[in-house]
Amino acid sequence: MNRIPLLIPELPSVAELQPYLERIDAARWYSNFGPLCREFEGALAGMFIAKNAQPVRVTTVSSCTLGLELALRALDLAPGSQVLLPALTFVASATAVVRAGLVPVAADVDPQSWLLTPEIARAACARYPLAAILPVTTFGCPHEMDGWDRFSAECGLPVVIDAAGAFGNQWQTGRATLVFSLHATKSLAAGEGGVVVSRDEKLVARVRQLSNFGINLDPAAALPVGQVDVPGTNAKLSEYHAAVGLASLAKWPLLAGKARTLEERYRGLIDGVAGLGAVWQQRPAATLRTLLCIRVRSAALRAAIEADCAGAAIETRRWYLPLINQHKGFAGIETCGALPVAAALAADLIGLPFHGRLEAADLDRITGVLAQAARQQA
Ligand SMILES: Cc1ncc(COP(=O)(O)O)c(C=O)c1O
Repeated sequence: MNRIPLLIPELPSVAELQPYLERIDAARWYSNFGPLCREFEGALAGMFIAKNAQPVRVTTVSSCTLGLELALRALDLAPGSQVLLPALTFVASATAVVRAGLVPVAADVDPQSWLLTPEIARAACARYPLAAILPVTTFGCPHEMDGWDRFSAECGLPVVIDAAGAFGNQWQTGRATLVFSLHATKSLAAGEGGVVVSRDEKLVARVRQLSNFGINLDPAAALPVGQVDVPGTNAKLSEYHAAVGLASLAKWPLLAGKARTLEERYRGLIDGVAGLGAVWQQRPAATLRTLLCIRVRSAALRAAIEADCAGAAIETRRWYLPLINQHKGFAGIETCGALPVAAALAADLIGLPFHGRLEAADLDRITGVLAQAARQQA
């Protein structure tokens, strides 16, 4: 029985990369905001501007984790200030907060969208002296930017969205800063890398400076060129990563179309499994998926699916577990109340294989195992 992997990243082939690599060879420029990096940033900015005709600034970084850290640092918050994030997220969201010298506070998520929403943040503001909010595009689900704009106007707090897996779903239609991941498993992949997108020109320039050791490269700035006011880090995107990013961008419409077709077929099959009680994350129509995570009727059924899939050589994953406050490394962080929704999701969510190599027979095999587990747990 062949194994069905959870994810198979589809990065550009050697042939697709070749023209970009030849340009690197010719220019002999390998990092430090070289021509491919700038072209990649320009192409990304163009995509965001095309979506809502607003000027945006884009700077690349070496990962989403560092992009988040630097975007938070660029806000110049007092050291030790509290930042609200969802309890159901990847550890990197909290890592970025801690590494920026700030303190994470974990919040619950919405039962339908599985997101930390402006309503949840508003309630948290009444209990904690928060300095910023870090919502997450959980499983690639975009945020409604107007809602966060209204929140910021009312509460006076900046919002940095961890949009790691939401490239192609989350557009820059508001004031919040967006940080995407270019990790191999993400919707737009460069192997490793990240992108910071904002309408705030100063914030993006600050992130860029901090990503280059904190060195000022702007002759118009008060600080002399070549000097550092605040120590930064090295979070630059290399020309090789920009090459992969550009080649990925060139095949983006093809990959997006494939993912859409797969989701439609898969969803029909899963919804047809009796007794599964599949609940889908509520997300805007036509959003892209790079992974598939559903909620099932009970924790017992989720455990049975995990065991039966393992027995049938089908890989599954329980993403974002344990909840952020349950990691040893973040054990001391405060939670905003009891987090009942995040805890229930943590028990019932199961990630299933989702990638372009899945054949009709694989989908039948996966849904067959789901049906068997649902029958056993009836
Ligand atoms: C929600 C979230 N934030 C941040 C990251 C980290 O992204 P990167 O690997 O680019 O640092 C991930 C990666 O999976 C993620 O899922």
